[in-house]
Amino acid sequence: MSRNSETVFETFLRRHDEAAWAAALESLLPAIHEVDRNATSIWFAFFPLALARAFEQADEPEKLAGRLLMQGRYRLEDQIDSSHDFLYGHRYWPEVKRAVVARAGQFKEGTTQEEATLAGQIQTVAREVAAQNKVEESLLSGITAVALMTLRRVGLAAFAASPGEVQLDGKRARQSPAKVLQERARDDSQGLLGFLRTTDKRWTVVWNEDDPTARFQMIHHQEVASAAATDKRDWSQVDPRCTVDEGPIPVQCRSASCGTCWVGVLGGAEKLTAVSPRERKAMQLFGYIDTDDPQPIIRLACQAQGEGAVSIVIPSWNGVFGKYLRRLREEEAAEAAEGSQAVSQ
Ligand code: FES
Repeated sequence: MSRNSETVFETFLRRHDEAAWAAALESLLPAIHEVDRNATSIWFAFFPLALARAFEQADEPEKLAGRLLMQGRYRLEDQIDSSHDFLYGHRYWPEVKRAVVARAGQFKEGTTQEEATLAGQIQTVAREVAAQNKVEESLLSGITAVALMTLRRVGLAAFAASPGEVQLDGKRARQSPAKVLQERARDDSQGLLGFLRTTDKRWTVVWNEDDPTARFQMIHHQEVASAAATDKRDWSQVDPRCTVDEGPIPVQCRSASCGTCWVGVLGGAEKLTAVSPRERKAMQLFGYIDTDDPQPIIRLACQAQGEGAVSIVIPSWNGVFGKYLRRLREEEAAEAAEGSQAVSQ
């Protein structure tokens, strides 16, 4: 769909830049159920708007992908119904998606203060779906934010055309949010004399909460990626970035230099060792996260070491785009300053 045939709702969403989306998410986080609070932030880190805008503006997106060393499935268009399958709210995707498509059709610029804001739009849709389906609104706020950003990124035509299906087995679908949180918080028992153990403690790393086989053991203070390599199944069939014998987390350098091994931490971020200056600098360079948090929810699996059981999620792609996006931001700021100078003259 060309920009001219955009719906009013798409234009409304497009009007909000990265800072506006970040502010909306920040204001919504307290209202998002704990089961999806980290997951929602992780999704927004996995699919950054700034990077999407860089591709939208690029004359030759393929060339840009090469320049930013993009690997894996980074196009949200190819995973509209599945990119967020690690959110608890994923199970309500069909209902949320339908409500968002309906909203896009009826949308008029809001008159109330709530309707006029991005966060207000997200809350309004989440509230509607919650009432229709008798579900707590807090369980729908995160997935609704994801749905609106997905619509912003892929456009209404592609968003509405995707099948909107959910792949979730019956047992998992019936799990309560409390049960999911309880499982995430559980540490492995170290046996009767566990308190005497020091370096030989072992912790479970879950990397797909929907798959009981998607887990491996990590020795106390072992790097998450090294522990993953004990899983000798051939994961290259599932993700071509994986190497046979290296486990389900793609790795190349194991020294914070390539950016292949980034992961989101759904539960237990506080049980991974604090970020070293090297890891922090590398994550800024790759563009994954820029934070002072000593134990953030985005980590490099070749650097983070375990001190307890954790639940992680492996993104479907990786790249090196931090410096490029910083330069784009500076250019945009300089253009805006020039524009306002010209107006005032
Ligand atoms: S494997 Fe290269 S940064 Fe971790």
